[in-house]
Amino acid sequence: MAMTDMISLRPAWRAPLAATIALVASACASPPQPQAAAANAARGVTVVTQWCSECHAIMGVESNANRAPTFEQVAARPGRDRAYLTTFLNEDHFPMSTYRLLDDEKADVVAMIVGLKP
Ligand code: HEC
Repeated sequence: MAMTDMISLRPAWRAPLAATIALVASACASPPQPQAAAANAARGVTVVTQWCSECHAIMGVESNANRAPTFEQVAARPGRDRAYLTTFLNEDHFPMSTYRLLDDEKADVVAMIVGLKP
């Protein structure tokens, strides 16, 4: 292969290489996705449906005195803000059976309850 042929090849792969470098650079430069870590009320619904629905309904008014208040009723109580609910979910609470939610699950549940505020 003549030297001139090799030189003429170079621009052909320089463009894709430059594009690849730009792609890698932009992937590194993009900030961490805040949505991925943020509390998510929809995930909170999934968590309470799995772990809390034996005693708590999510919406409405609980008419059965043997059951816990609905999360909508809890949200409507005065002072049930993010800080209160976060503290509450970090404590054991009679008559609730011992449960352990992961920290991000607790944040999701708090977001869900706060979202039910009237
Ligand atoms: C065994 C039944 C039971 C289970 C299971 C249960 N709870 Fe409760 N929970 C109760 C009862 C009863 C109350 C009512 C106490 C009251 O009126 O404050 C309550 C109250 C609450 C309150 C209101 C606290 C306040 O001070 O207003 C929150 C929030 C709560 N529960 C969250 C949860 C979450 C989240 C789960 C699931 C991980 C859960 N509970 C599972 C029985 C239960």
